[in-house]
Amino acid sequence: MIKFDQVTKIYDNLTALKNVSLEVHKGEFVSLVGQSGAGKSTLLSLIIGEDKPNSGRIFIDDIDVAQIRRSDIPYLRRKIGVVFQDIRLLPKRTAYENVAFALEVSGEKTHVIEKEVPKILEMVGLVERAHAFPHEMSGGEKQRVAIARALSHRPVLLLADEPTGNLDAINAADIIDLLIKINKAGTTVILATHAKELVNSVKKRVVTIEKGQVIYDQQKGKYML
Ligand SMILES: Nc1ncnc2c1ncn2[C@@H]1O[C@H](COP(=O)(O)OP(=O)(O)OP(=O)(O)O)[C@@H](O)[C@H]1O
Ligand SMILES: [Mg+2]
Repeated sequence: MIKFDQVTKIYDNLTALKNVSLEVHKGEFVSLVGQSGAGKSTLLSLIIGEDKPNSGRIFIDDIDVAQIRRSDIPYLRRKIGVVFQDIRLLPKRTAYENVAFALEVSGEKTHVIEKEVPKILEMVGLVERAHAFPHEMSGGEKQRVAIARALSHRPVLLLADEPTGNLDAINAADIIDLLIKINKAGTTVILATHAKELVNSVKKRVVTIEKGQVIYDQQKGKYML
């Protein structure tokens, strides 16, 4: 599903990724770990076509992301859901409306939205909080809304960049459990994180990057640093 072939990304004169080759198959759950500045977010931004590599090739399914035409980026983005540490919900909209809005802006019909949103809220365990506003929700609930929103287009791939960074341990563990559940339902998941205990509890593939290079890639891995 994802293939990085000798990918290098240089910002100004800082090499953020150096000759990274990596494959992720459909249905995998991959934890991407490494110290601050190692290149985790850079790698994710290349996957969504937000940044372009200086050299090397990146394929998402059949799409060569490094060569992608501007007009094809929306097509790529619909395949990929993204969640971040800073949750970025619309503050004046409820949980339901935040998810519905993502579908509205992409032109989804009302009857589809009315059918899909409750299903997604159910998936993330937020049915009871559907009509709460962000300021009425806990950090964990807000992150679940963000995940629901990321899932609204039924992406084949979910990228989570430090999604537990602002959460306490219990909420963080719940978010990881939710990501595992989403993965079990068929979505490929890449989780970039510093959260050592959580990564070790997942017992799935761990890719460790250091100074822009993959230094470990282990099935049923551990957080090695
Ligand atoms: N837009 C940019 N312009 C210049 N340098 C950048 C840019 N984005 C990232 N970098 C640099 O590239 C390197 C890798 O950054 P990246 O954000 O990928 O690290 P990270 O592993 O996600 O770190 P963290 O755990 O702190 O989020 C860092 O040295 C960073 O300063
Ligand atoms: Mg980062």
